[in-house]
Amino acid sequence: MKDAAPQTIYLKDYTPPAYLVDHVDLRFVLNETKTRVFSKLHMRPNPDAASEAFFLHGEDITLIAAKIDGTAIDPQIDATGLHHTVPNAPFIFEAEVEINPSANTALEGLYMSGGMYCTQCEAQGFRKITYYPDRPDVMATFTVRIESDLPVLLSNGNPVEAGDGWAEWHDPWPKPAYLFALVAGELVNHPDHFTTMAGKEVALNIWVRPGDEGKCAFGMQALKQSMKWDEDVYGRAYDLAVFNIVAVDDFNMGAMENKGLNIFNSAAVLASPETATDANFERIEAIIAHEYFHNWTGNRITCRDWFQLCLKEGLTVFRDQQFTGDMRGAAVKRIDDAIVLRAHQFREDAGPLAHPVRPASFVEINNFYTVTVYEKGAEIIGMLRRLVGPENYDKALDLYFSRHDGDAATIEDWLQVFEDATGRDLTQFGKWYAQAGTPHLSVSESFEDGTYILHLSQQTPPTPGQPEKEPLVLPIAVGLLDQRGTEIVPTTLLEMTEASQSFTFDDLQDRPVLSILRDFSAPVILKHTQSDATRAFLLSHDTDPFNRWDAGRSLAQDVLVRMTRDQATPDQSFLDGLAAVLRDDSLDPAFRAVVLSFPSEDDTATALFDAGVTPDPTAIHQAHEALTLYLAQHVQDISPRIYADMTVTGPYRPDAADAGRRSLGNRMLSLMSKLDGGKQAQLQFAQADNMTQSQAALTALLKIGKGADELAAFETAWHADRLVMDKWFGLQVGCAAPEQAAGTARKLTAHPAFDLKNPNRFRAVFGSLKANAAGFHDPTGASYALLADWLIKLDALNPQTAARISAAFDAWKRYDANRQTKMRTALQRIADTPGLSRDTTEMVTRILG
Ligand code: PHE
Ligand code: ZN
Repeated sequence: MKDAAPQTIYLKDYTPPAYLVDHVDLRFVLNETKTRVFSKLHMRPNPDAASEAFFLHGEDITLIAAKIDGTAIDPQIDATGLHHTVPNAPFIFEAEVEINPSANTALEGLYMSGGMYCTQCEAQGFRKITYYPDRPDVMATFTVRIESDLPVLLSNGNPVEAGDGWAEWHDPWPKPAYLFALVAGELVNHPDHFTTMAGKEVALNIWVRPGDEGKCAFGMQALKQSMKWDEDVYGRAYDLAVFNIVAVDDFNMGAMENKGLNIFNSAAVLASPETATDANFERIEAIIAHEYFHNWTGNRITCRDWFQLCLKEGLTVFRDQQFTGDMRGAAVKRIDDAIVLRAHQFREDAGPLAHPVRPASFVEINNFYTVTVYEKGAEIIGMLRRLVGPENYDKALDLYFSRHDGDAATIEDWLQVFEDATGRDLTQFGKWYAQAGTPHLSVSESFEDGTYILHLSQQTPPTPGQPEKEPLVLPIAVGLLDQRGTEIVPTTLLEMTEASQSFTFDDLQDRPVLSILRDFSAPVILKHTQSDATRAFLLSHDTDPFNRWDAGRSLAQDVLVRMTRDQATPDQSFLDGLAAVLRDDSLDPAFRAVVLSFPSEDDTATALFDAGVTPDPTAIHQAHEALTLYLAQHVQDISPRIYADMTVTGPYRPDAADAGRRSLGNRMLSLMSKLDGGKQAQLQFAQADNMTQSQAALTALLKIGKGADELAAFETAWHADRLVMDKWFGLQVGCAAPEQAAGTARKLTAHPAFDLKNPNRFRAVFGSLKANAAGFHDPTGASYALLADWLIKLDALNPQTAARISAAFDAWKRYDANRQTKMRTALQRIADTPGLSRDTTEMVTRILG
């Protein structure tokens, strides 16, 4: 790679652009190896700029010719772009460049995927298409002409005109270059339409490769629901005559919100009952919504610079979480989000990759599309909404949209809007954006003469580059129950601002039972002092569904820690509590399923590490297996009944009610298979008419070391379906016994359908290897070495995805000397690779610390 020497970029060094672009004319003459791009930039000096130096970004492109105001120039070109002198008045810069889409395996800029041309420009891909001020605070209107023999030619905005071998598009909304998109291919569409609240007709299309037409209906329905929801809840209507979505097989991320032309990883949009699981359907619905919601939060109001990434991502994730809560039930959605946040964001915050939601510096911005920016960014919005209340939140959002429409904005702008709309001082709250690390919240209680006092203290452990931490504003939702489980103090929001603080509740008859951090009101780690008995009580009586689940979760976590440390047996009362929830037919099946599922093995490693114990992934795996077996035995009298009760009849529907029933039924199936040798799972596999049921059955079989025949049948049935084959690859690695995981992954990399250039396939194998905690941490180090080998190979082709997956090693310092040495050796071997990309270099350097 010919990357320039890695350079750190700092938020504090931001300066406005020297030149602005009012309008861009682009003409693409498409060719797989020699595409010509003709650009005409209508530019002018920025009156607010500090410097006059003229510079346009450009990488991996060949300049054929350039002109300023019609006169040919011979600009100075280096590895990062183009320099020249320009008039001190409005001028026109023109360029003709040549690029090679078929050589583009990084999937950034213009590239080929399955015979079609497509683009990915966020964050800095447009500079691989032509010379341009590739920064989000330069916003322009675009006119795009595409010349190609391919039948479908798409770009942003509205179609202008098309003829034989060409099409022209115009996007009237000024946008940064990262929102540019172009697609050309032999595509078929799934059309529909939507009438906005203003009465405007919008043509909707999902464009796919021939053969995938049958997988578009659900995505289209999700799109229409998203459009309606954003009108109803945020008052935001769509603003173009067409909205196009394109599915591509080779994509580094989930999807991309290009103005009027969203490009999706096919895994994030294509679904049919036969090929996609309930979880896939839910994820697709959320991603369609997410990208659509970006039209206002991201596109109409964009980011001034990439340090402000959370401005669009945190808010848009928060909005898609609200949407899913409204579509599918808020309680289970909040639980699902908390599981993800704790498993991935808390882990990131506790390790060498910890960074603030708004980072202060970066080397490669692609490395900062993280769970911290996205998910913790969303938690900050959620806390803000809780603190100011829903009406004030709506008022502030209306002000945000009216004040900043058309702007490239900052977090300061965002907080100012809330201060102006509510009169609240958000100085201290703003530290959530700047301070990395997860606050630990310690709780103690006292009760005397009818007065109950809650003593809280917060403390955030140091993170790389931030040794000292300050107290944050924590919205803490609490309720108090009496000993019979009746709520005596309904949910109340306490605002903690100090390091230590006490809150008093008077006039109580008896010592109450505390239910704290209801609905997970702040992203903190609760240092609970509640006894097993109190938590068991909350598991059966709490009126807050999140805390009811969390009480059971925390008991399960303690049980797993004890079982790992001393091969203890689980308490009968804990198993009885789970069985009681299982038997309670008045509870939503989806809720029962989440209560019946355990923390992950990685969660247990974290819990042990936090308790000062070096986690042994092998012992953790054995404890998890043992607890599953105990539970299977404990509920074996009722599990077949519940399994049968959860049968869904009639045609498959991916809605929350049916998905919840399948989820609980399949939890039963996994427990039953521990005792019946897989008989029921084999039957389910043979009879399944949808992917949720066949995948669950196959998983249950693989987890008990069976399923070879089913695996072969699955391959025969689905070898031509790329997305289903990703499951086939992933399941084998994810369900492999610890000592077989590395070997299984290695064997699959030799399978003819393994494709290093396809990120979904690479993630199917190596994402699953990381997720198989005991297999990844097999003490021989086989998985570490295998992953390092393949990351080195991938880095030469696709730095962005290689860098992202290298984070699998981030927790290396938690483990014993043997594993530490082997992980460090693997990391060092990656770091020492000649020509390693800037992306992966930054990641392994930070991980090594
Ligand atoms: N902006 C995209 C999203 O959140 C994510 C993305 C980033 C996609 C970078 C591609 C490249 O929805
Ligand atoms: Zn996004």
